[in-house]
Amino acid sequence: MNGIMAGHARAGGIAIIDFGSQVTQLIARRIREANVYSEILLPSATQADFEALSPRGVILSGGPASVWKSRAPQLPEFLKSFPCPVLGICYGMQLLGWECGGRVAAARKGEFGPVMVRLDRSSLLFKGIPGRIRSWMSHRDAVARLPAGFRATAWTENCRHAAMENRARGIYGVQFHPEVIHSEYGKEVILNFVFNVCNCRRAWTMEAFEKEAVAAIKERTRGRRVLCALSGGVDSTVMAVLVNKAVGKRLTSVFVDNGLLRKNEGAQVVRFLRKKLGIKVKMVRARRRFLRRLKGVSDPEKKRKRIGTEFIRVFEETVRSIGRVDFLAQGTLYPDVIESTSTKGPSATIKTHHNVGGLPKRMKFFLIEPLRQLFKDEVRALGKALNLPKDLLWRHPFPGPGLAVRVIGEVTEERLRILREADAIAIEVLKSSGQYDKVWQAFTVLLPVKTVGVMGDERTYANVVAFRAVTSSDGMTADWAKLPYDVLSRISTRIINEVRGVNRVTYDISSKPPSTIEWE
Ligand code: XMP
Repeated sequence: MNGIMAGHARAGGIAIIDFGSQVTQLIARRIREANVYSEILLPSATQADFEALSPRGVILSGGPASVWKSRAPQLPEFLKSFPCPVLGICYGMQLLGWECGGRVAAARKGEFGPVMVRLDRSSLLFKGIPGRIRSWMSHRDAVARLPAGFRATAWTENCRHAAMENRARGIYGVQFHPEVIHSEYGKEVILNFVFNVCNCRRAWTMEAFEKEAVAAIKERTRGRRVLCALSGGVDSTVMAVLVNKAVGKRLTSVFVDNGLLRKNEGAQVVRFLRKKLGIKVKMVRARRRFLRRLKGVSDPEKKRKRIGTEFIRVFEETVRSIGRVDFLAQGTLYPDVIESTSTKGPSATIKTHHNVGGLPKRMKFFLIEPLRQLFKDEVRALGKALNLPKDLLWRHPFPGPGLAVRVIGEVTEERLRILREADAIAIEVLKSSGQYDKVWQAFTVLLPVKTVGVMGDERTYANVVAFRAVTSSDGMTADWAKLPYDVLSRISTRIINEVRGVNRVTYDISSKPPSTIEWE
């Protein structure tokens, strides 16, 4: 088992069955934000999975299938007796309608996008909500005839059964999507199910999680030695602090300085962990090795692969020099877990060669992944509960291959110096102007072109730095940040004046998609 044991904080929550909707994760997040644990299961989940979680209610997600087609995903066996209240959303509602003996069919007109929904406010689901709300819908199929014992509790112009329920049996369905942000009172609908129908308690707090996780790690490692790789990022730092709390001196943290870090980054992280938290950190200086491996390489994928391979080599050598280690702790988060197990099948991960995913097979460690059940914002909340400084917790994401993917073309010591200086200035200006926390990520990129400039009557022929700042909620999609002109102006002026070798700064105004956040 990689995660922690089912404890009090997790019990009595809500299980979500994922039928392949793009927004299933949002249901879990809405519930967890209300301090109730929620976990996503596949339709193939077993009675044992259900019992391990012991939820007070189940939500069935939407999905792209039609219940009346062959091979449409079915209600899990353990749910067929309805052992707890169930709420079906979109496909989930249709599945409930179908299972309970109603009729589901494709409507003449589909409903896509925002739709006005009239609600019967006597339903427990719609308590405290106005009688008409604008909600987001995306369907053609609908419950055409309600199963016996059910009543309709919401209507739209084109949908006679926009919600249904059998209160006595605890079965509810909504055809609209309360989990998406564009749905008015969506969160209230979900929380009415969680609290009014399922009577959940607000037991999921990061303080409770911390206590349970520490106890579980202690129990699992029992006097044996644990190793973790630090990257300087939020996840690995929070993970190390948590594991350190559980095993103390039995934890060895390794920080590989690959020479591709931001200005002062390595030293800062190590100093902080050692001095402030008393965590043993082994700093491995491997700058030269990485630079040698990158010599003459300008293809982005080649760079990434070489850095990944070199990291594994350095890490292996370090482990050998440490002696016997039994466990490897990793900062895997819940979205990574979901992505690799969802009904959509494993999706392409951008991070594969940058975490230490390749190591355990070769090195025979047991894995500990204490953050496996957490979303990013929960990791930050856990960090707060562990008294980590705000600066560290709200740091912008930084890619595993570091500045190598921001020096376009060949990576050299001199080009890294230029980029590092420029980056430090841009971040400093963002912080001093109060913009740093408003953007998801900001950084500079060094381009492989030179342009002509004039400085103090002299002609210059020097490098171009591109500045990129994006807004995003998860890095999957992003837009360029509409930063105030005076902030952009200060960044540009300071970089050109203070960084030797740069005479031009541009601002990247592309969104993702079709661009990506990083340039390589
Ligand atoms: P892209 O460039 O794919 O980046 O739009 C999305 C987010 O992921 C970060 N990123 C990485 N993170 N290892 C990481 O740990 C990587 O190889 C990597 N590549 C991109 C990027 O900084 C952005 O936040």
